[in-house]
Amino acid sequence: VSLKSFNTFGIDAKAKLYCNITSVEVLNEVLQEQQSNPLFILGGGSNMLLTKDIDALVLHINLMGIEVVSETEQTVIVKAMAGENWHQFVLWCLQHNFGGIENLSLIPGNIGTAPIQNIGAYGVELKDVFYSCEAINVNDKSLRTFTKEDCNFDYRESVFKQELKGEYIITSVNLQLTKNNHKLNTGYGAIKTELEASNIKTPTIQDISKAVIAIRQTKLPDPKEIGNSGSFFKNPIISVEQFNKLQENFPEVPSYKISDKEVKVPAGWLIETAGFKGKRFKDYGVHQKQALVLVNYGNASGKEIFELAQLIQKTVKRLFNITIETEVNII
Ligand code: EPU
Repeated sequence: VSLKSFNTFGIDAKAKLYCNITSVEVLNEVLQEQQSNPLFILGGGSNMLLTKDIDALVLHINLMGIEVVSETEQTVIVKAMAGENWHQFVLWCLQHNFGGIENLSLIPGNIGTAPIQNIGAYGVELKDVFYSCEAINVNDKSLRTFTKEDCNFDYRESVFKQELKGEYIITSVNLQLTKNNHKLNTGYGAIKTELEASNIKTPTIQDISKAVIAIRQTKLPDPKEIGNSGSFFKNPIISVEQFNKLQENFPEVPSYKISDKEVKVPAGWLIETAGFKGKRFKDYGVHQKQALVLVNYGNASGKEIFELAQLIQKTVKRLFNITIETEVNII
């Protein structure tokens, strides 16, 4: 089975075996019955670069459903099944006037993969609204509820990428959202500019979502048109001493303070300054409007894109003495 239409990079890798998982019962049965093949869990396919065929049983998690599980005067807990598309879920919440994830509009991928890398954008991370998730242990098939603390969330990190990597399949996620008195996150410069341009002084969560969508559409390629996985690298965190040295050579380097000792530097700036922005090689390259995004213009192989990523990492290391780590999972 070709996985080309199941990964947003549009890489034509093949799965040895493939199973479309549409219910928790089916998932349980498949896990019980099949012991011999290694498993490969596929969600929205929006954060992976396939560099080879998958010699495993691909379980494509397409569990669907959204429901309110409890509510108070001010807040609501919404349960969404792992296969729901993230952005469609955001739109559903906006229709119901549930607040908290409007800044996370238009992020590709599914609900079930959102906790794995603690998706984030424009001043909000999934962990800010995360309540719990349910997951099946692939070894003993037991169902476990993870609280927010269990997940060890950090910048694009969680327990599911670390200690428990490959051990659990997330089946559903519960988020705690606001019904009124929404806490708006408009601090991000681009959001302010966008709202001002539309002359909106007291924005609603729906206005913020529209602003975020507009910003993302100007910078980030639509995977339906150009294959990509969003930010390919994480923004590196370096020491203040190292940053000061960098600033001597590059006075214009942007940065965000993390603590008194650490500074985050946008990898997009490093890659652009290294000369890669908009560069195209055969059928792949670096996006013209955002250097942090690698793109597949059609029929590039995962291996080619991976080699470009390594060249970028080496060049950034040589020029700035900074190591940039991939955000995307390299398979
Ligand atoms: N920049 C450049 N050149 C570029 C791109 C960026 O110089 O080509 C510099 C600019 O100075 C800009 C700064 O980098 O002000 C930051 O850029 P931007 O606001 O576009 O955000 P980012 O740091 O590139 C991060 C996330 C995005 C998220 C945005 C908005 C990471 C790895 N990426 O990108 O997340 O949407 O902030 O919050 O943290 C993703 O994870 O897939 C993703 C798209």
